[in-house]
Amino acid sequence: QKRQAAFIRHLLQSSKNSSPLTPQKACGVGTAPVNIALSKYWGKRDKALNLPINGSVSISLPGLGTETRLKPINAEKDRISLNGKPLADNAVFAERLSRFLDWFRDDRESAFEVETHNTVPTAAGLASSASGYAALVLALDDLFDWQLPKETLSLLARFGSGSASRSLFNGFAIWHRGSREDGLDSFAEPLQVEWPDLTIGLVKVNTGEKPVGSTAGMQQTVETCDLYQSWPQQAERDLQTIINAIKSNDFSTMGKTAEHNALSMHATMIATWPPIVYWQPESLSAMQLVWSLREQNIEVYFTMDAGPNLKLLLQEKDRAAVQKAFQERGIGIEFLHPFSG
Ligand code: DP6
Repeated sequence: QKRQAAFIRHLLQSSKNSSPLTPQKACGVGTAPVNIALSKYWGKRDKALNLPINGSVSISLPGLGTETRLKPINAEKDRISLNGKPLADNAVFAERLSRFLDWFRDDRESAFEVETHNTVPTAAGLASSASGYAALVLALDDLFDWQLPKETLSLLARFGSGSASRSLFNGFAIWHRGSREDGLDSFAEPLQVEWPDLTIGLVKVNTGEKPVGSTAGMQQTVETCDLYQSWPQQAERDLQTIINAIKSNDFSTMGKTAEHNALSMHATMIATWPPIVYWQPESLSAMQLVWSLREQNIEVYFTMDAGPNLKLLLQEKDRAAVQKAFQERGIGIEFLHPFSG
């Protein structure tokens, strides 16, 4: 608790508002995109400050994400709604959000109204906690007129959810592991490289509730998986390989490394006890289709997070062939272009 309070206090010191917990307007607004990690974050070295065991790199999907409106209200409790529907106080999502907001109340009595809209058209299994906490932090910055740099807002978003630290940026973003105990060097930054040809395919297998959330899943993996010992080293190596591939416009190395990284992370989940298997039979069918396309020299790779859906990495020139192959097998797919809207 003390370390968390010190962390937040330190971050708000550079605010343009000299009393950073006094609202400067009636309502703050923030929007942020979802992101897909190409080299994954899996495991915390410090739970209180949400510090990762390894760094990660992601690509954001503009147009898909969260818009949040934040209003101070005279009420006993926060009023939180998601896509126009009020959430019960005890909903896991609402409880976690209220606990995060506790750090930004000027006195214990004050409450917030939080209206959150996810602009994920098909809810294709894309994590919304990342865009959710990034949008909330931007709404806080707006409401309190902090005018903090994105990197500082990234530190605040990390505190809500690790992957949210990367959702402050469009395009590629690196979340640095950092080495300081106070966590001030573990934030995300954009990688200023554009890949106009990059196409993401969203393969929707299942949009139901996750069996185990990422926070609990990674904790259980760190505690019970022997294979996890090799993860930190591989994760840092993959991170460097992918950053170099992005900078040198090497799609093949980026794709290969991202797929290998995702499968290695899933291997640690599966080798956890009790086992955590996010895959469904349809996930494996989609993977096999990706592998068979590669045998036909259509260069497509996949990555997966803590859920059964696949995210494909391909180049625009191969989109029609990939679309045809998935449609022929009756597997739903939707394409997005991170660098052209
Ligand atoms: C598999 O960021 O959701 O998507 O920090 O506990 O909120 P918390 O976890 P979260 O974990 C994301 C895990 C992942 C990989 C990634 O996005 O890097």
